[in-house]
Amino acid sequence: MRRAVCPGSFDPVTNGHLDIIGRAAGLFDEVVVATGVNVSKSRLFDPEERLEMLREAVAPWSNVTVAGFSGLIVDFCRDIGAGAIVKGLRGATDYEYELPMAQMNRHLTGVETVFLPGAVGNAFVSSSLIKEVATLGGDVSALVPAPVAARLAEKLADRA
Ligand code: PNS
Repeated sequence: MRRAVCPGSFDPVTNGHLDIIGRAAGLFDEVVVATGVNVSKSRLFDPEERLEMLREAVAPWSNVTVAGFSGLIVDFCRDIGAGAIVKGLRGATDYEYELPMAQMNRHLTGVETVFLPGAVGNAFVSSSLIKEVATLGGDVSALVPAPVAARLAEKLADRA
């Protein structure tokens, strides 16, 4: 059984994330999408909301599950018996950000990181930009799953 973890903040999950998760599901027997906390980013959705949106979004894949984690991603991988972390790369900036983390994680426990090139059409799609554009009234409905677009609208209306 080859198990991989797709970690991220997923605040919220985007179509770019789902492209990577779906492709990882084709490469591994089982994929666990793990929501963690990136201490350098501000959050819009609380952990339970992010998990709910992810559960809905990964429903099409029978070998994909969703979990939350705290602490080091390498400890989570070890706890669930995952030998690989899968990450998407939109471009060189992602690579420069992700490479040291992949090297650190391998140093810590030997877990491998597999990088998948993001689809060209998703190169500009990030949770941070989605939140900024949605907050300022822009239409992001083509870039996130429909339930996420609805939740974004609801969340931002609550804040108004
Ligand atoms: O979607 P993001 O913000 O790029 O996700 C980053 C995340 C949460 C996957 C990353 O910050 C992480 O793995 N955090 C857990 C803490 C950890 O293991 N830090 C050391 C990484 S080398």
